[in-house]
Amino acid sequence: MRFPEAVARTTQQLEVASLSYGQGFQNAADEALRIVYAASGVDFWEYMSREDHPHDLVLNDDAVSTLQEITRERILSRKPLAYILKEAWFSGQRFYIDERAIIPRSYFAEWIPDQFRPWADPDQIEAVLDLCCGSGCISICCALAFPNATVLASDTSGDALDVAAQNIQDYGLQERVRLNRGNMFEGIDQRFDLIVCNPPYVSTDRFRALPPEYCKEPDVAFHAGEDGLDFILEMLIQSGQYLTPNGIIVVESGTASERLEELLDDTSFTWLSTESDEKALFLLEETQLKSVRNKIIKPPHISKPVSVNND
Ligand SMILES: C[S@@+](CC[C@H](N)C(=O)[O-])C[C@H]1O[C@@H](n2cnc3c(N)ncnc32)[C@H](O)[C@@H]1O
Repeated sequence: MRFPEAVARTTQQLEVASLSYGQGFQNAADEALRIVYAASGVDFWEYMSREDHPHDLVLNDDAVSTLQEITRERILSRKPLAYILKEAWFSGQRFYIDERAIIPRSYFAEWIPDQFRPWADPDQIEAVLDLCCGSGCISICCALAFPNATVLASDTSGDALDVAAQNIQDYGLQERVRLNRGNMFEGIDQRFDLIVCNPPYVSTDRFRALPPEYCKEPDVAFHAGEDGLDFILEMLIQSGQYLTPNGIIVVESGTASERLEELLDDTSFTWLSTESDEKALFLLEETQLKSVRNKIIKPPHISKPVSVNND
């Protein structure tokens, strides 16, 4: 079977199966292409960087049977392709991934290469915290984008941290990217010039409606209470004490952005837009965090008392 025919057939099989996408691949055709590369043993990333495909390649019998196996597994198990191939691509970098951590796909991929300029001065970034690091993809990309910085990668999940440790080792970044296991800021006792955070922000309704593919990922990566803001609001209360005086915090709030703006309506969020979303990430400066905190802890936004140990 020739390469284009293999891609066309696989695309059709995936389309008929009505799968869900969005975990590294956006549609059946993109997934089919990746599966055919994997089955034929051709280096996908080399061809993608050349924006070309091996049109004349003929898949031998072994390649065709591997193609069928991967396609069958994808359709029958509804496992995301990244978990089947144990590989994810994020901000131009390859990462090891498996079911212990969510598949890298954050909006941060578009902003890290630009080093959050003009709000951050890359030469002044010496300490970075990646809160909710998962597989370590954002931590590693930050370490690559800010070569003078050390990065603390923190997560509550020991499983996710094991995946992060493997990726940090693969990139040879053990000296500059350290790991911390803790709930939110637990175990963290320093200030940072930059805090990046892609936290759980999925509301209860959205969480219940997640397609089967997303249910293969760890629940703890998604759900953040009724309106999706449990983690973000508590983090904003505490984050001031972990930033240096000129520090900034950048947070992905995705589907919870609208509700966040409603609750904190007098806060001047700096929204960092991406190709697909105008309000994907927000940025706040250290000087703004005191008033944000006061606004959050003031009733009626949080009805139960919040214990704050802040300056
Ligand atoms: C949306 S995922 C992001 C992972 C990774 N940064 C990425 O972009 O692929 C959210 C992460 O937050 C972690 N997490 C959830 N609740 C947490 C908490 N209370 N404290 C620390 N990490 C938490 C999860 O384990 C998960 O790895």
